[in-house]
Amino acid sequence: MENLEQMVAQAQADFAAAADAAALEQAKARYLGKSGSITAQLKTLGRLDADARREAGARINQAKGLIEQALDARRSAIREALLAAQLAAEALDVTLPGRGVGLGGLHPVSRTLERIENLFRSIGFEVADGPEIETDFHNFTALNTPENHPARSMHDTFYLEGESEVLLRTHTSPVQIRSMLEHVERFGHLAQMPELRVIIPGRVYRVDSDATHSPMFHQVEGLWVGADISFADLKGVVTDFLRCFFETDDLQVRFRPSFFPFTEPSAEIDVAFMGGELEGQWLEIAGCGMVHPNVLRHGGIDPERYTGFAFGMGPDRLTMLRYGVNDLRLFFEGDLRFLGQFR
Ligand code: PHE
Repeated sequence: MENLEQMVAQAQADFAAAADAAALEQAKARYLGKSGSITAQLKTLGRLDADARREAGARINQAKGLIEQALDARRSAIREALLAAQLAAEALDVTLPGRGVGLGGLHPVSRTLERIENLFRSIGFEVADGPEIETDFHNFTALNTPENHPARSMHDTFYLEGESEVLLRTHTSPVQIRSMLEHVERFGHLAQMPELRVIIPGRVYRVDSDATHSPMFHQVEGLWVGADISFADLKGVVTDFLRCFFETDDLQVRFRPSFFPFTEPSAEIDVAFMGGELEGQWLEIAGCGMVHPNVLRHGGIDPERYTGFAFGMGPDRLTMLRYGVNDLRLFFEGDLRFLGQFR
C-alpha cells in the first residue's frame, strides 16, 4: 500500500517534470504501459484469494485512477502551454498606428524638365516629342551629317541588332526635322508661314559612362524658325531662360564658337555663377547655332525665306547644378535615399 502511494506520488512528480507531450508519454509508459509498475501490480492479483484480491484490486485501481487523472491534467496543461506560445508568437498588435501610404515624388530630372517646359511655354514655345528609336536618316543624314561625314564619329551610337538604319537616337535634334516637316504640312500652304517655336525634351543614348556621362541621358532641344530669326534672338532667349531657371541674374553666359554639322555658325553655351561654390568656373550646358540651310531644306523649309536657331541642352547637367549633385549616375540608380530628398 505504501508502495502504491509512493508510486502515485512519483508518477505525479514525473508527469509534472515532463516538458512536452513526448516526454509525458514516456513517463506514462513507466506506470501504465505493458511493463509499467501499475500493470505489474495488477498482474499480482491472480495470486491472491478472493477477499484479498477484491481489496487489493480496489486499491490498485484507485492508484491507477489517480495516475490517469494526473496524466490527463498534465496533457491538457502541455497542450494549453503550446497554444499560448503559438498565440504569443503570432501576436498582432492591432493598436499600432498604420504604416500609411508612402508619398511619391517627382524625379529631380522630371522637375527640371517641367521647369524648362513652363519657362519656354511662357514665351510661346510648344512642347513636342519624337521616337527614341530613330532612323539613321533623321538622326544623321537629314541633319547635314552624311554617311561618311567625320562628325558621325562624335557620337558613339547604339545601333539595333541586325539593323544599320535604325538606332537609339544620340540627340533630340532629329525631332527638329520631324517638327519642321509637321509644321510645313500644317502651314506650308500659307503665303506667310507662322513661326515654328518648339522645345523637345527627351531621352537620348550614347555609349558612354562615368561620373558625368550615363549611356542614357536627357536633352532638351529648342528650335525657333521664322522670317527674321537671328543669332541675337538665340542669345537673348537662352540667356533669359538661364537666368529664370537658376533664379539669379548673377550668372554669366558665354557663347563659345564650336562646330555642329547642322548649325552654322555654331556655339557651345557655358555658364558661370558669380558667387557660391562654383564661382567663376565655366560649365558647358548646351550646344547651339543657326539652323544650317541644308537642315531647313530637309525639313521642307526654304532657307532663302526663313532662318532659325536651335539649341540642345543637357537638363541632367542643369539639375546637377541647381541641386548641387556631383555624380550624374545617382539620378538613374533608383536609390530612394537619394531620390527621397527631392520631394
Ligand atoms: N545635338 C547636339 C548634341 O547633341 C546639340 C545641338 C543641338 C547643337 C542643336 C546645335 C543645335 O551635341
